[in-house]
Amino acid sequence: MTTARQKLALGVMVSGGGSNLQSILDAAASGAIDVEVKVVISNRPQAKGLARAREAGVPAVVVSHRKYREREVFEDMLLARLREHGAQWVALAGFMRLLTPRFLDAFKDRVINIHPALLPAFPGTHGQRQALEYGVKVAGCTVHFVDAGTDTGPIIGQAAVPVLDGDDEATLGARILAQEHRLYPRVLQLLARGRVTRQGRRVCIAQEPDQNEALLANPFLG
Ligand code: GRF
Repeated sequence: MTTARQKLALGVMVSGGGSNLQSILDAAASGAIDVEVKVVISNRPQAKGLARAREAGVPAVVVSHRKYREREVFEDMLLARLREHGAQWVALAGFMRLLTPRFLDAFKDRVINIHPALLPAFPGTHGQRQALEYGVKVAGCTVHFVDAGTDTGPIIGQAAVPVLDGDDEATLGARILAQEHRLYPRVLQLLARGRVTRQGRRVCIAQEPDQNEALLANPFLG
């Protein structure tokens, strides 16, 4: 008899389309990653990510930043919903509000984010456009721990894509997004298996035999 592996209890916070959320939900549902999405929270009631959550049978909750205008109150509401649904980790997936140290302390070293650029290049909004305008030949995406800065936290994993001569923001963005959908579940699986350690800014990935080794075989993840 095999014992079920312990799952990482995840809250996902979105503001929009939620295609990264979908990649996490799909990987979790197929058993490819040891993650259980406990709740999806959006600060925007119309976010498509909410429908994706419901479709997957995951509680979908709106915490509107317009309703709770004071940031402290807004974040208290987020924290309450996360806790009430049993989330131990938080994945930001296109969540468009900055989080204060107070929120981050409540989930210390357990909040991660995905950004559509190879950090530390091109933080903030429109990472893909910034890469095109700068003229880099390699672009990509980054999953990192969240700290109080904008996209400045320690890097866990990155994936690179070429920038082609004919690219515009849409074509480059789509190429990056395809990698985001692979990278985010992989990083979550590393966290779920306890293979991620931090020393200051440096994040190390322990090399251990794992039944999901094929999933994790990515040169950019070490
Ligand atoms: C992604 O490009 C992600 O890197 C950024 O916001 C976008 C969200 O896309 N943080 P989606 O909502 O997951 O489709």
